[in-house]
Amino acid sequence: MEILITDTYEEISKAAARVVAKALNSKPDAVLGLATGSTPLGLYRELIRMHKDEGLDFSQVTTFNLDEYVGLRGDHPQSYHYFMHENLFKHVNIARPNIYIPSGTTDNYEAFCKWYEQRIVECGGIDLQVLGIGGNGHIGFNEPGSSLGSLTRIKTLTKGTRKANARFFKSMRDVPKYAVTMGIGTILKARKVVLLATGESKAQAVVDSLEGPVSSMCPASALQLHRFATYVIDQAAASKLTLDTYEH
Ligand code: GLP
Repeated sequence: MEILITDTYEEISKAAARVVAKALNSKPDAVLGLATGSTPLGLYRELIRMHKDEGLDFSQVTTFNLDEYVGLRGDHPQSYHYFMHENLFKHVNIARPNIYIPSGTTDNYEAFCKWYEQRIVECGGIDLQVLGIGGNGHIGFNEPGSSLGSLTRIKTLTKGTRKANARFFKSMRDVPKYAVTMGIGTILKARKVVLLATGESKAQAVVDSLEGPVSSMCPASALQLHRFATYVIDQAAASKLTLDTYEH
């Protein structure tokens, strides 16, 4: 695995944007796996800047988002559909039909999840998957205990995850209890993975996932099985790492 430790959030965002831009420049019709949450916001801002100032082209790109809350329509301000539209898609030249985000309102989740997996395969598979990490080591909404081979499905959110995300909702009661998420198996099939983490609140999850055992109790630890996984993290998120061989 490649671990890059930076000083600032801006550096994380820029380093991650360079990885994405490299993927798009070498393959203009690349398939990107995208994440939500506060962490990738700087990456998306940098990609928008690169699109506007440097002509980074999204016209042939296809995207698959990791997850969505069950019960939130695409126009709900806390839905991941809305988040992606506001923070990236509406600012770049991506073709709307090439955007895929799990549905939080389908009446047949089983069929939808199967179709989502199938669409990823039909589009050629994910070339580059962007990930954040939850304080409990979750990736997407694959909470601890998720099967390491899991595919897209509904997951029950832990109380801790609901609490962490409650800051975006009026009250804890409004935070959805379930989400549709790509599985860990889906994520592992991506050709390349880049995980971003910032701040002390992620330090334990980062060390568990990099230096701990591969375990479903820390879903991100599954990335140890991936051949091309890169972590781009700041000093605070790296503060519990013990090896001295990481790149600064
Ligand atoms: C969310 C998302 C994850 C994200 C994580 C961390 O609930 N489902 O994809 O990586 O939690 O979020 P943040 O970046 O806001 O800390």
